[in-house]
Formats: sequence, C-alpha cells, structure tokens
Amino acid sequence: MRKKVTVVGAGNVGASCAVRIADKELADVALIDIIEGVPQGKALDMLEACPIENSDIRVVGTNSYEDTANSDVVVMTAGFPRKPGMSRDDLLLKNASIVKSCIGQAAKYSPNAVLIVVSNPLDAMCDVAYHASGFSRNRVIGMAGILDTARFRTFLAEAVGVSVENVVAMVLGGHGDTMVPLVRYTSVAGIPITQLLPADQLAAIVQRTRDGGAEIVGHLKTGSAFYAPSSSVVEMVESILKDKRKVLPCAALLDGEYGRKGIFVGVPCNLGSYGIEKIYEVELDGGERTALDASADAVEELVRVLRRNGY
Ligand code: NAI
Ligand code: 2OP
Repeated sequence: MRKKVTVVGAGNVGASCAVRIADKELADVALIDIIEGVPQGKALDMLEACPIENSDIRVVGTNSYEDTANSDVVVMTAGFPRKPGMSRDDLLLKNASIVKSCIGQAAKYSPNAVLIVVSNPLDAMCDVAYHASGFSRNRVIGMAGILDTARFRTFLAEAVGVSVENVVAMVLGGHGDTMVPLVRYTSVAGIPITQLLPADQLAAIVQRTRDGGAEIVGHLKTGSAFYAPSSSVVEMVESILKDKRKVLPCAALLDGEYGRKGIFVGVPCNLGSYGIEKIYEVELDGGERTALDASADAVEELVRVLRRNGY
C-alpha cells in the first residue's frame, strides 16, 4: 500500500518538507494551506519535478481536509514564524488557535496518523495538538531536538575540522533559550568532545546553538529557518514510515520520565511505525538535571498561559 503524508501549511517549512518527501519518494503528499492557490501551485510545481527526480510520488495541493484523508503521518507547520526581536513564545496564542483548528480537522480525516508538530512555540503547540487530536501520546511528536542537535553538530564539526557525520550529539529540553545541549554525551567518532575542544570554546558553541534560530532570523529578517527544519522533519517521517526505529531527540509527552508528568519536552525517542516506540532516560548529572528541569519549567509556564486562555 502507498503511504500518504499530509503537510499542513504550504509556507517555507511546509513546502520544503513536501518537496523533500517527494524527492526521497517516501510517500504521496497532500499539501494544505488556508490560502487558495498557493498549495495547488506549489504541489503542481513539485509534481512536475518528479520525472527529473525519478520519483513516482503524487503531490496534491488543496484547501480541503477531505483531500488529506487516511494519511499515515500529518506534519503540522501552519502558523506564524517569528520576526527579528520576537521570541518563539511571542507566537503562543496566535499559533495555538491555528494549531487547534488545523489539527482538529486533520485528525478527523486521518484518525490513525502519527502527528509531527513543527509550529512554534513548539513544546506548547504539541500540547495544543495533543488535546485537539485526542490521539494517544505516542502519536503526537514535536520536531525541534533534531534541528537543535544538527546546529550543534554543524558548529562542532567546523570547530574540530571533521566530517559532520562523525559528530554524535544530543540536545534535549524545550525548543527555546533553555534548551540543553548535552556536552558529556557528545563525541567525534567516539572521542569525547571535551578531549578535542577547550571548555570556553565548547561553551561558546553551546550558546550559539541556543541562539541558532535567532541567528537565522537576524539574517532573513522576514521569517525563520526552513531548510534544516524540513530536513529534520523528514528524518522523523522516514523513520516512522519505514519503521526504522531511529533514536532521535523529539518533544514527547512525559509520564514520569525524567521526573516530569503531563508536559512535552525534548527527550531521546525511538521512532517507528507506532510513533514513539520508546523514550530513553539517559543518566544526567546534577547540572544537566537542573538545566532540563528549568527548560521543562519554561514549557510549563507557557502551558499555564494556554490553560488561562481556554486551551
Ligand atoms: P510561513 O509563514 O512561511 O508559512 C506558514 C504557512 O501557514 C503559511 O503558508 C500560511 O498561509 C499557513 N497558515 C496559516 N494559518 C493557517 C491555517 N489556519 N490553515 C492552514 N494553513 C495556515 O512560516 P514557516 O517558516 O513555514 O514556519 C511555520 C511555523 O513553523 C512557524 O510557527 C515557525 O515558527 C515554526 N518553525 C518551527 C521550527 C521548529 O524547530 N519546531 C523550525 C522552523 C519553523
Ligand atoms: C528555529 O529554531 C524558528 O524555531 C525555529 O529556527
């Protein structure tokens, strides 16, 4: 049976996700947006690239959720991106309303899908999507940790002068200024990173990673990153559709793991056809545990604002 992925939002991230899925011939794609013509035009353009990319994928652009029916995966990218000077949290209530309505519709037409949430502020939007969908927690997953980790790996590879493929790392926590790059678990082909870079250089790279989204916004001025974010989403889509069981940092609803309950936060997840197959609890030292708690507290604060506003 052919697989199907719905991408909600045909903007920068959504359209880039759709084209990467089509180029990799992973699944048929339904690209949906509120603006008439944009998803149709972009989808047709992608479809016309398929003969060149040797991909027999069907790409459909639409404004109707009926066309998204029976998707295996729904990727939620609709919402406002931030502008210079804005934090991801400034988008909270505007994007909560978009996520609630889009996910309500998408879940109705694809009741067995795995949801991948991208809209910001990410961890809080996962909470909105979880409640709007009524899905079990293994089928609502947020994309952020892969992106934050990719940025960390990029900067480390550049600093050490090695292939990015050699850098193994993991960034946990919420997708915000409090994210937690785990230096102690970072290596270059098995060599601990602390043996290759001095502490002050590592600290600077950790900070650049935390500011990674803002650095791009500062350059673009009119929107935020989308090439690396879409690559990150498609790594998740592929692991789910092919049941690859990759271990990837994703926002997951915790139920006692890491001492937290009822909160979405970035943790190492095993992704397969069931969605989150397993959450790994890595051993954290005192400083790492404090940083992860602070990050989860920041997410909890946003969720409190959501609740006060009826979400
Ligand atoms: P964009 O502005 O290029 O695209 C957003 C799209 O959503 C637009 O085409 C818009 O028409 C559509 N949209 C708005 N309301 C809608 C609705 N009710 N139904 C369907 N479509 C609707 O923005 P971009 O760059 O694609 O970013 C999308 C979201 O993803 C933002 O919230 C951004 O902050 C977030 N993001 C999150 C990342 C992460 O790591 N989690 C990484 C990059 C972006
Ligand atoms: C990023 O980190 C905007 O959250 C997005 O680039």
